[in-house]
Amino acid sequence: MTDLPEHVRRNRALWDDWAVKYAEAGERGWAQAAPDWGIWGVSEEQARMIPADLAGKDAIELGCGTAYVSSWLARRGARVVGIDNSEKQLATARRLQQLHGLDFPLLHGNAEAVPRPDESFDFAISEYGACLWADPYRWVPEAARLLRPGGRLHFLTNSMLMILCTPEEDGVAATDRMLRPAFGLHRVEWPTDPGVEFHLTHGAWIRLLRANGFEIEDLVELRPEENAKTRYPFVTLEWARQWPCEEIWKARKKQG
Ligand SMILES: C[S@@+](CC[C@H](N)C(=O)[O-])C[C@H]1O[C@@H](n2cnc3c(N)ncnc32)[C@H](O)[C@@H]1O
Repeated sequence: MTDLPEHVRRNRALWDDWAVKYAEAGERGWAQAAPDWGIWGVSEEQARMIPADLAGKDAIELGCGTAYVSSWLARRGARVVGIDNSEKQLATARRLQQLHGLDFPLLHGNAEAVPRPDESFDFAISEYGACLWADPYRWVPEAARLLRPGGRLHFLTNSMLMILCTPEEDGVAATDRMLRPAFGLHRVEWPTDPGVEFHLTHGAWIRLLRANGFEIEDLVELRPEENAKTRYPFVTLEWARQWPCEEIWKARKKQG
């Protein structure tokens, strides 16, 4: 614990604290027949987060939380491993594994240093997990190490645009004005929140992914349906119908 980076220690305490209030969303996710994504429940048809050819492949979820995403991969025939920094989130995941009769390894640890050999996965995924709460300059090289040549990395996080437009006050939704600089975006701390988030500009994501041997296949800007609902106060439907508040990066590790 003491040798963990400071942001990982802080985020561990935060997520151990928040785990109880995330259990219900985990239960819903595990019970869903069809996947949906992000804070508005955008369809898999729009997001295409799960590769079609996953059966028999090795997959890892980086920051799996309650592991409902992992459960969707496992049900599509993947051999899944979930890793999460919070033992309390994993306790919910383990309870839901038992309830649904689905068993796959759940590791308690930091997605920036995963205890698995090089090139042991074909697919890595994160939905608001490591891609938001871990340092991209640590977890992206780690994902590159873990993936086999040709392996895919898909991650969904807040859009850069929304982060620029989000006020510091707790519970106040994104505005139509830019409130912070884009240049220098990396570690972000909100005054009312003890956690540490990480956000990059699009140029920085592109350079980081390419520097670690990835080709970028897509950047999907998610648009919620007209009647979509969210339990999160940080963005309104009116805003999210006009501008992307969530984005999915899709990258592939180059062959050879
Ligand atoms: C919003 S949840 C995302 C997981 C899942 N999609 C869900 O909503 O339950 C964020 C998760 O990221 C995990 N996390 C934060 N930092 C991490 C790190 N460095 N390594 C692994 N997991 C991390 C947290 O413990 C938390 O369970």
